Amino acid sequence: MRMVDLIEKKRDGKELMTEEIQFIIEGYTNNSIPDYQMSALTMAIYFQGMNERERADLTMAMVNSGDTIELSAIEGIKVDKHSTGGVGDTTTLVLGPLVASLGVPVAKMSGRGLGHTGGTIDKLEAVNGFHVEIENDEFIRLVNQNKIAVIGQSGNLTPADKKLYALRDVTGTVNSIPLIASSIMSKKIAAGADAICLDVKTGAGAFMKTIDDSRELANAMVNIGNNVGRKTMAVISDMSQPLGYAIGNALEVKEAIETLRGEGPDDLTELCLTLGSHMVYLAGKATSLKEARQKLVEVIKNGKALETFKVFLKSQGGNSEVVDDPSKLPQAKYQIELPAMENGYVSEIVADEIGTAAMMLGAGRATKESIIDLAVGIVLKKKIGDYVKKDESLLTIYSNIEQIEEVKQKLYSNIKITKQKVDAPILIHEEITRI
Ligand code: URA
Ligand code: CA
Repeated sequence: MRMVDLIEKKRDGKELMTEEIQFIIEGYTNNSIPDYQMSALTMAIYFQGMNERERADLTMAMVNSGDTIELSAIEGIKVDKHSTGGVGDTTTLVLGPLVASLGVPVAKMSGRGLGHTGGTIDKLEAVNGFHVEIENDEFIRLVNQNKIAVIGQSGNLTPADKKLYALRDVTGTVNSIPLIASSIMSKKIAAGADAICLDVKTGAGAFMKTIDDSRELANAMVNIGNNVGRKTMAVISDMSQPLGYAIGNALEVKEAIETLRGEGPDDLTELCLTLGSHMVYLAGKATSLKEARQKLVEVIKNGKALETFKVFLKSQGGNSEVVDDPSKLPQAKYQIELPAMENGYVSEIVADEIGTAAMMLGAGRATKESIIDLAVGIVLKKKIGDYVKKDESLLTIYSNIEQIEEVKQKLYSNIKITKQKVDAPILIHEEITRI
């Protein structure tokens, strides 16, 4: 096989065969296919697309380009949740203990964040002592014992995707549905998921800004998953404004605790119940989504979800006292209110810009090398649709620096207030299932 023939084939709109896709991914991983040929191919894919079979083949070729995590020693159906990324997205912290308390095994491999706010590991590390550097055996033992554990990314997972994503980033080929969908799905499958719940965000703070693009990506991933034998579903959820109130690592841990106690923000709670119902159902712990939801509401009410969170933190070295006393989480030196400049209804809270403001305070990483401040961030007091009076606080800024004029300016220019009544945005646009 010659790469140049395969590039021409795709350029001319023809489909690539299974062996051809394997040849390309193997060759690219072992450096026998150079970047310039791969660039030409990704551009051809960008314009010509890929059919369902090609997408599934590309996904599995990337899975097989490196190590895969072996989770067969864990009892039960391992359902993984994946979010395409948002601002103040506290769902993983809530969902893990929530579904684990119903016996769904949560074997989560997670990463650190870049941009906006931290990733799941950063947030958990806001709990003093908590660590994810555990051996594989210990990880599996903990999931069997507590039904939940989190481990840092280790091993050589999907090296083809790493290389390809970096190449796409500098060749104008990131924004291709078949390439994005296979990139995300290959990582979930390599990490050992039996079934996958996807939270595809839509709106200003999301990777996909429009509902049509989000739907196309969600469908592409759901099809890939089901075509390669992993039950997969997706919800499309709002990310025009941040999710919940808190943005920032320790602040989001506190918000997760409140949500597990049944006292969290409505939108975060509802999204967790929706995604959680699908996870419980896919794991075979309920016979319908309705039953799954009832069970989730029950473990929030009777304290089992919160207790599972405590045991989970403690098992990985964390100070579980934070659950009953969140003041034991890292605290910022200053709390600064942002007063509204006029009366009216909040009509816009541009999620990605608010995320950037939190990053400027130190809650997120501007570059991979940045050191994040776990205590700082933003807690919204108003969301889209709420009425606010002049001088009433829109949000609280938690900062370790006193001079934050630039951050305030950024926040003011990304929160709009209008005289006309505004509706809250729809939280869950669609639920896409194939089963
Ligand atoms: N996220 C990924 O993991 N891969 C992509 O291609 C795009 C977003
Ligand atoms: Ca939040």
